[in-house]
Amino acid sequence: MPSTSLPSSLIATLPGDRYTDPEVFALEQERIFEAMWFCAARASELAKPGQFRTYQVGRESVLISRSRDGSIRAFLNICRHRGAKLCTAESGEVKRAFQCPYHAWTYGLDGKLVAAPNLTSMPDIDRVEYGLINVHVREWLGYVWVCLANTPPSFEEDVMGAVTERLGAAESIESYDIDNLEVGRRITYDVKANWKLIIENFMECYHCATIHPELTEVLPEFADGFAAQYYVGHGAEFGEEVRGFTVDGSEGLDRIPGVAEDQDRRYYAITVRPQVFINLVPDHVIFHRMYPMAADRTIVECDWLYLPHVVESGKDVSRSVELFHRVNQQDFDACERTQPGMSSRAYAKGGVLVPSEHHIGAFHAWVQDRIGATPAH
Ligand code: FES
Ligand SMILES: [Fe+2]
Repeated sequence: MPSTSLPSSLIATLPGDRYTDPEVFALEQERIFEAMWFCAARASELAKPGQFRTYQVGRESVLISRSRDGSIRAFLNICRHRGAKLCTAESGEVKRAFQCPYHAWTYGLDGKLVAAPNLTSMPDIDRVEYGLINVHVREWLGYVWVCLANTPPSFEEDVMGAVTERLGAAESIESYDIDNLEVGRRITYDVKANWKLIIENFMECYHCATIHPELTEVLPEFADGFAAQYYVGHGAEFGEEVRGFTVDGSEGLDRIPGVAEDQDRRYYAITVRPQVFINLVPDHVIFHRMYPMAADRTIVECDWLYLPHVVESGKDVSRSVELFHRVNQQDFDACERTQPGMSSRAYAKGGVLVPSEHHIGAFHAWVQDRIGATPAH
């Protein structure tokens, strides 16, 4: 970090190598993504027993599936025999068991070892001990959150607490009934940028006037550069002429019934560290999960959630989806334009944060604190 005196209106960012160095990324994988609660699947995509998805969480592959008893289970996606990756597909459905493609060890949906060639000749094998390794699971807001830590941090404090801290009251998120909304559209973005650039971008609105013409039409106060996240409990108000949170400000979809009067015609954004963004508007919720794949690559899965009858009736949600899809593209393009600069000599000591970005400094301090000692060079 530059220790030379900065003008008092500026704060230093992290140095460039924090966005490019594989050693830094490995520390983040270990001490952030494998240590914290990580939001992975929408529970409804695992509706039936045997439906599964696999995710990279930190350095591990995790298999998430629904068990016969209806509960969601998560395991390390690694065969206990000789370590082959068990499920190689990103998603799919098995009838009653997962079979390793190497020597055919077979595990029930509860993770127990149920069959293996010549298993009867090995009567001393404990089916549970040699079953799949469990990963902690929680369901909240209709999403499946996993934690690879032996002793997970408090979900209530880390995850629910982040939402409450941002909105000012625990009930505020409940008005949107996110559990019971349905996915009207999902778009997956493969972003060639470090995950921290994406978070930093989401936290500030200094760029809004430059790159988000459609968004600043709908939320005129964003043109001033102060993100909604800057103030606790604040939601950005729709422009007077705006009828809905849509790409052209036209009428949106049916309003979520629980949305309170003071939440109506407002946009709230929440960052849940380390990899979730939640955007609330009166008629839908936009839910982003980031999956960091490498120092310079992050997959972002973004869901647009509506009332079930809106999705089931096949109503046209395209103008509604298009607004934030454009915002996503504009943001991710900016992040991809920034990533190469992280390894430039010009950015070796980092850049600066202007006053409306100063809260990003707390994010940098948090990352620094989590990963501890800076790797040696
Ligand atoms: S590695 Fe899976 S059965 Fe041998
Ligand atoms: Fe943006």
